[in-house]
Amino acid sequence: MAEHARQILEGNWLGHATRPSSLLYPHQWSWDSAFTAIGYAHQDQDRAETELRSLFSGQWKNGLLPHIVFVDGGGPYFPGPEVWATEHSPNAPRRPLTSGIVQPPVHATAVWQVYRLARDRPRARRFLHDMLPKLDAWHAYLHRERTRIGSALVEIWHPWESGMDNSPLWDPVLARIQPRDGTAPEHLRTDLRVANPAERPTAAEYDRYLHLVALFRAHAYDDERIRAATPFAVRDVLFNSALVQADHDLTAIARELGKPSTKYEDWARATTQAVEDELWQDGSYADVDVVTGEVLDASTWSRFSPLFAGIPAGDRAEHVLDQLTDAMVEVEGLGPAVPSLSRKDPSFDPALYWRGPVWMNVNWFIYHGLRRYGRHDAAASLRTTMIELARKAGFSEHYHPSTGHGHGGAEFSWSAALVLDLLGQPAGGSSVVTPIGAPET
Ligand code: SER
Repeated sequence: MAEHARQILEGNWLGHATRPSSLLYPHQWSWDSAFTAIGYAHQDQDRAETELRSLFSGQWKNGLLPHIVFVDGGGPYFPGPEVWATEHSPNAPRRPLTSGIVQPPVHATAVWQVYRLARDRPRARRFLHDMLPKLDAWHAYLHRERTRIGSALVEIWHPWESGMDNSPLWDPVLARIQPRDGTAPEHLRTDLRVANPAERPTAAEYDRYLHLVALFRAHAYDDERIRAATPFAVRDVLFNSALVQADHDLTAIARELGKPSTKYEDWARATTQAVEDELWQDGSYADVDVVTGEVLDASTWSRFSPLFAGIPAGDRAEHVLDQLTDAMVEVEGLGPAVPSLSRKDPSFDPALYWRGPVWMNVNWFIYHGLRRYGRHDAAASLRTTMIELARKAGFSEHYHPSTGHGHGGAEFSWSAALVLDLLGQPAGGSSVVTPIGAPET
């Protein structure tokens, strides 16, 4: 399995970075590269470090880490650099060309994992040393530009920033946006030519995605102006949970290098408290629409993501773990898995991207969360299902939650990389490897 996973990553290697999938995503994506590095960390320190260094070569002067770093000759993709037109921002690099939005901040977690598993220790220390200021600037950007007075929670300004593009969480928010007609005409959408259109977001969604990009472009990617003007502003459970964990990992990185870590500890504490105070709504974690104050309560997997960061404690943790058990599905002949959306949700569709399929990264977050809360048997079952799913259906972008058939992009990098991480974890019982997210001793 490890050999096969490695071949997938090799096939997507561009010489300095790994594309998520050859036809559908032919450039470098932000959280994809972090997951890829987490997988490489078990096998190839050089690749893992190069992946993250090349991603950060696209970092902006204000600390923003863009969700796409375009690769010269990478392949057709819409919306490409000419649509993003990030040259309107004084902060964007002239080279490489990038998008102008972000993705969930799992990068400090990836850097820390690469360091912990590295064989060449002096080299790993240099890597850690080089990455600390970049991660510091990235987290500072989020805590500074993506918050408003009155809340420590960071905001996302686009469904693509959530990483879960067409999640039903965004439906009520997108419904309020009236785009100009045909903002993303079908003939421009490369995704519809290389993937099954029934497994991709709709024309109405793409029109709104592009409407938001046009707004950011018109505001020259000025955060203050966008914060005041964006009709899409959401305090998202997954994004904030990933940030809490990344702030913990940044704390560990700084301490390891003998550098000050108080700022990172304070960030982690404040965001944790805000998740507990503001995103816990009627017995479950839920996103909040900043513009209307409305709770966005679709029954998505991300309600459980605070477990990854060790956020809930006591009775609340027990309650979330019980809800998680209820949300699991049985993949035929393989075992339990967590689908991206509950089967009971009216928007559930087993093959439609973030509206039902099983994703490898979703189950990876949950796996590490379960380990963190001492649920080793449940974690071991998920681990087995994910590995067997990849054996049976290959390293697809996502999988049908009942049949286990692969859907979306083929030969998908993070599916391969996260299986490498799962293969590197113990099969069951207590752990000899510090789980991602466990407090360091
Ligand atoms: N995931 C989005 C896409 O389909 C945007 O990053 O390309």
